[in-house]
Amino acid sequence: MCGIIGINSNKPVSSTIVNSLKKLEYRGYDSAGIATLSSGLINEVKSEGRVDNLEKNSLVQNMEGTIGIGHVRWATHGSPNSINAHPHSSQNVSVVHNGIIENSTLLKKFLVNKGHKFKSQTDTEVIVHLISEHLKTDNIVNSIKKTLKSLHGSFALGIIFKDQPDLIVGARRGSPLAVGYGPNENYLGSDSYALKSMTNKITYLNDGEFCIIKKDHVEFFNEDGIKINKKVLELSSTEEKYDKGDYKHFMAKEIEEQPITLKNGINEYVDKSNNDINIYNFPWKINEISSLTLIGCGTAYHSCLMAKYWLEELTSLDVSVDIASEFRYRKNRFKKDSLYVFVSQSGETADTYAALDLCKQNNMKTCAVVNVIESSIARDSEFVLPIHCGTEIGVASTKAFLGQILILYILSLKIGLWRKDINKETFSKKLKDLKELPKMVEKTLLTDNKIQSISGTFNEAKGSMFLGRGFSYPIALEGALKLKELSYVHAEGYPAGEMKHGPLALIEEGMPVVVLAPRDNYYKKTISNMQEVIARGAKVLLITNKSKDEIVSENIWEKIEVESTNADLLPFLLTIPLQKLAYYSALKKGYDIDKPRNLAKSVTVE
Ligand code: AGP
Repeated sequence: MCGIIGINSNKPVSSTIVNSLKKLEYRGYDSAGIATLSSGLINEVKSEGRVDNLEKNSLVQNMEGTIGIGHVRWATHGSPNSINAHPHSSQNVSVVHNGIIENSTLLKKFLVNKGHKFKSQTDTEVIVHLISEHLKTDNIVNSIKKTLKSLHGSFALGIIFKDQPDLIVGARRGSPLAVGYGPNENYLGSDSYALKSMTNKITYLNDGEFCIIKKDHVEFFNEDGIKINKKVLELSSTEEKYDKGDYKHFMAKEIEEQPITLKNGINEYVDKSNNDINIYNFPWKINEISSLTLIGCGTAYHSCLMAKYWLEELTSLDVSVDIASEFRYRKNRFKKDSLYVFVSQSGETADTYAALDLCKQNNMKTCAVVNVIESSIARDSEFVLPIHCGTEIGVASTKAFLGQILILYILSLKIGLWRKDINKETFSKKLKDLKELPKMVEKTLLTDNKIQSISGTFNEAKGSMFLGRGFSYPIALEGALKLKELSYVHAEGYPAGEMKHGPLALIEEGMPVVVLAPRDNYYKKTISNMQEVIARGAKVLLITNKSKDEIVSENIWEKIEVESTNADLLPFLLTIPLQKLAYYSALKKGYDIDKPRNLAKSVTVE
């Protein structure tokens, strides 16, 4: 997942490109680079690490040129250094790329035999030399067309040419790419978010298409090099403020924003005056759906798993969940009365997008639960349920997770009522509890100081376990993921009842174990599992909900009690201390909380 920007203007572009790259760092931040055209030459500057390092380079500060491309990288081929940073350039062509060229080794051999010299270890560099090779005998459209047809794999490309000082070429297959329109200048970007600070007039390229961007107009072509017309969309021009405010990190702000996130979601879907839920324009008759499959990656997969428990509780549907990168290669049995739900904060995750594409090829019903409504997954699904969280910058997802499970809970409730699996009385009671949820989360956010003090224990341990049963099990997985991706320490989410089938062997004196044991139907069983790990020396952090009943156990290292509410909603509250635990652990280690190593916010490669 890398970020691309291109600008064709009548004024110098380097500083605008660098500023745009800063907005794209959520897509990758191993290295960054820029190339412009000036005085008939391609000028290229690249740097390892953040865009700030590129900006500090004096060559960038004095960079001329009214046409340029820029790139932030998340390494797929070749280590994250300035040689492998993009753009990659030959004498007459410079390219930025997001995606993976799967036949690059073969193409490199062919090009080396033709005398081309390679400088980097990247797959991208073959594109530069292929275009240069075709330009020896062909015009630009044919050279691009032939190059693209010879590439296997995925790409979003930005290309500039020494001998074509008035244009930028963009091309897309499998990785998102958008064109933006400005006054006397036009743009190329990985997504609308990259372009939003310059324009709200956007055209999205579809797979196989490429474009030629001049400063006063843009031409689009299909994969055969035939000119095509494309729609210009006008996006909501409100560019939200993305700053951290008084918070040290975006993640801290986004954790604290969760009551607002939930209020927004409830306001969007709950009709308070009629005590009902509005799922506007649901395109199917509910009796056309007898099973439902939820698909996502990472935190979004945990949302899917959480939804499975609710759907099984509130409806009589057959429900399955799958990790997108598994689903897309599985020998699936597609049934026409199945609804496929794709959960994705960014709406650009390559594996989830590929799973959606596979379902569409099989004429399945598709629904997207996303935060970015202009995203590829949203655009290509039949029906979209936005989560309305506002931009989430922190790579570790927090408010988007709660936003996802909120919308999935609301959908579960509504389907249960539509199918008469729950009656209006049950529905209304649950809806009434739901409306109180933001307040409950607000109170739970106050459980702060104890977590701060115990977070260091997780940093010093060899590893930790997060245990839960039933509704708490997906939350245990999510809590473990948060700690892993922020503190870089091993943590494993596990079904509490499964420990005795092997992982109990991991438990040793002083090992921190988080046990999620709210007073629900699984409480007693989970407390017994908790005793099993305490008996073997574990330091147990018990997270439960407030209750007048005493906890029947001794030797608990620490206990956190969240607010009490309807059992359906306890997962929302149990999540909060786990997000804070991961945040404070990483803070103690001095790690980059908003941009953890090796990760990116939008994973647009498989
Ligand atoms: C979660 O904290 C991670 N950043 C990651 O697991 C993320 O949830 C996953 O990559 C899916 O992203 P998406 O929701 O944008 O599809």
